[in-house]
Amino acid sequence: MSLRCYTLHMSFSVTRPTGNKSEQYAQLLEQARALLHGEHDRIANAANFAALVWYALPDINWCGFYFFDGRELVVGPFQGKPACVRIALGRGVCGTAAATGQVQCVADVHAFAGHIACDADSRSEIVVPLVHDGALLGVWDVDSPLPNRFDETDVAGMQALCAVFLGSLSSTTQTEAAA
Ligand code: SME
Repeated sequence: MSLRCYTLHMSFSVTRPTGNKSEQYAQLLEQARALLHGEHDRIANAANFAALVWYALPDINWCGFYFFDGRELVVGPFQGKPACVRIALGRGVCGTAAATGQVQCVADVHAFAGHIACDADSRSEIVVPLVHDGALLGVWDVDSPLPNRFDETDVAGMQALCAVFLGSLSSTTQTEAAA
């Protein structure tokens, strides 16, 4: 499938990444850069980002954002089954990532004390904390129905993808500033 969308500024084509996992993340990173380029709206970019990753990555059953509202995490744009709406800081895998600022890569969610089971199919999970302008913005969360789905390559790949998302939120990106 090829999804093309047109705005005043660009045309964009989504293709499934190929090659080994590192090569797939490299291609996905380029697609994310192209998809978010020139747009700074957080909800629009979060929605397109989640849709892109959902389309590109195999063996996932949920991916999306929880945004920090100043008190707790609130679900944002995502793909997958309807999810828990609010998560307190420090609770579950998402709240732990948000509270510690550390990526949580959980091989077996059943072994993670306090894991919040939004989708009973989830067996492993990766959560990346999102910090923008020095403040907690929220987390990026991906679930898999397979145990041990995520490894160090996924951690690095997801962090790089999240950096592209966070960079898109600034009104002047480095690319635009250099132009
Ligand atoms: N499992 C998460 C909750 C969010 S869902 O996976 C969409 C957690 O333990 O924080």
